[in-house]
Amino acid sequence: MSAPIADAMKFYSADRALAFHTPGHKQGLGAHQLLKDLITSEGLRREVSLMDELDDLHDPRGCIDEAQRLAAGLWHADHTIFFINGTTAAVQTMILSTVGEGDTILVPRNAHRCVNSALVLSGARPIYLAPDFDPDFNVALNVSFSTVERAVEKYPHARALILTSPNYYGVAADLPSIAKLVHRHNMLLLIDEAHGAHLQFDDRLPPSAMDSGADMSAQSTHKLLGSLTQTSMLMIRSAQIDFDRVRRVSSMLQSTSPNYLLLASLDIARLQMEEGGSKLIGRAVDLAQQLRTEIKKIGGLRLFECPSLDPTKITVNVRGLGLTGLEAEKVLRHRLKIQCELSDPANVLFLITYADDQTVADRLINALQGLKYGAPSTLPPTNDSAQLRTAYPPASAAPMSPRQAFYAPTTTVERRQAIGKISAEEITFYPPGIPLICPGEEITSELIASIEENLAVGRRLVGAADPSLLTVKIIEE
Ligand SMILES: Cc1ncc(COP(=O)(O)O)c(C=O)c1O
Repeated sequence: MSAPIADAMKFYSADRALAFHTPGHKQGLGAHQLLKDLITSEGLRREVSLMDELDDLHDPRGCIDEAQRLAAGLWHADHTIFFINGTTAAVQTMILSTVGEGDTILVPRNAHRCVNSALVLSGARPIYLAPDFDPDFNVALNVSFSTVERAVEKYPHARALILTSPNYYGVAADLPSIAKLVHRHNMLLLIDEAHGAHLQFDDRLPPSAMDSGADMSAQSTHKLLGSLTQTSMLMIRSAQIDFDRVRRVSSMLQSTSPNYLLLASLDIARLQMEEGGSKLIGRAVDLAQQLRTEIKKIGGLRLFECPSLDPTKITVNVRGLGLTGLEAEKVLRHRLKIQCELSDPANVLFLITYADDQTVADRLINALQGLKYGAPSTLPPTNDSAQLRTAYPPASAAPMSPRQAFYAPTTTVERRQAIGKISAEEITFYPPGIPLICPGEEITSELIASIEENLAVGRRLVGAADPSLLTVKIIEE
């Protein structure tokens, strides 16, 4: 077993050719000490590109081609493309290579914002599908089979359905049934599998997109496996997909100077899973199951559970302690030295990965047991998280396509005067990074109320022209 990209970098470095080429730090010779503190001297020596033996991400014929083929084999795809611009670029590639101006695509209302940017770039018209919602935990579930069934019947001309599966909280859609359904209607199934690169390595996890019959899936190798942040893979397995077009689109969206440390890290993450994926992911699932059992015993905490859940995503509702999720995150971080993946008004989410062990699990349990002593309560103890519910707009066709809205003349009005107007901007709170309003949608009073709730609980806002959201950008009438 080998890692062809890492091997090629090592080979070039070992050859000791005198560098009259990029990058300007010349294999570390000119690197600032602070950069040297971040990357070993050997890492800097190998941080090169463009040499024959290092291949070309945009026309792979050597080590990158080989590494991508090995990844395709491991993840049960026909083809794999490596991404150094994150799953953002991989999802955009799926959309731009399959739908164009005026085409209809079925999109979950809570898709990641990269889907919305792909809609602007492609000119496609989204039909938003509402995910199911758990009002008790204030967590968006996935889009149900029956919601897809209704949409497919109502919009038979749609070219594709994109789903996020599993979602941020680990809830998977019924992909095997949905794949059969959409294929019967000659639609493509594209999966944002940002949170699912590990799925196929353990039977206790929901089935992967490729194993479920999806046409393409975009995986964040960096999120739950061992590659560097910013690196992802696009998996393709379908006779209906024009692979050459997908490659050309991926090339349009990626840097012509891909960083080889990033590319090599994808290759090495694949090697790591090939060497011991089942064992490593199996251990993560075991640990997560054990944690789930123990968390259930802690008073004041409730564990999120539902069918088709990736158990390595552990969502803990803290409202029973009189805390919001955001308050719990602060206590965990600053007093108990535990950092969660995300917090929302009711919950904190912890990821268990192949990197974790029993010591880590024990520390988490200790911290959760100590949480109740951590912060002064600002809320009365309650299990009713619905009062902080995030209201997403109902599924419907937007009055303007995201692209039309993006290029239309705009004006700015006071927040409440925007009700009934068409939004010219995307408004997203982090976490979980789901747009509340997308360009082209009508701004409803429920949406304004939801924005105000999010502001009140102190979530971080991105995307809005006015960071205070006192004003909102709308389409000029
Ligand atoms: C569901 C989903 N899709 C896509 C992305 C974008 O991935 P990346 O940050 O690798 O570009 C994210 C990132 O959080 C995500 O959660």
